[in-house]
Amino acid sequence: KYEFRALLTAMVVMTIFIFSMLYVVGAQRSDVPQCVNFDKSYLTPRVDKIDDSTYEVYMVAQMWGFQPDEIRIPVGSTVDFYLTSKDVVHGFYIDGKDVNMMAEYGNVTKRTAKFTTAGVYKIFCHEYCGVGHQNMEARIIVG
Ligand code: CUA
Repeated sequence: KYEFRALLTAMVVMTIFIFSMLYVVGAQRSDVPQCVNFDKSYLTPRVDKIDDSTYEVYMVAQMWGFQPDEIRIPVGSTVDFYLTSKDVVHGFYIDGKDVNMMAEYGNVTKRTAKFTTAGVYKIFCHEYCGVGHQNMEARIIVG
């Protein structure tokens, strides 16, 4: 009887262990930027509103700025960022959101972020791209 209980406990522990492993793997996967097939429409910077709390931002990096350079969204918005570059390789980092991508010509990178706290989130280029590199930034205004 005790053996059965011990076995059952071991199985439960194993099951929890396996599920937590799967959970971690799944969480990591969703955290990695996805690659999207490139076409010229991604070179048009814009913000598309899908509904009141869902947005798509088409971000274009070019020496030495991002377009759009100011994005306004309400608190609680989920945003898909599609990022590309018109020239050299740029970085894309959203301060306070841990969103970190690379912008490359001919490539689109996608990353989703949810903005649950009001505030101004600074975006900056973290890849050296020439004399204007340190001025290359944009911002997201949530509120
Ligand atoms: Cu763009 Cu540094």
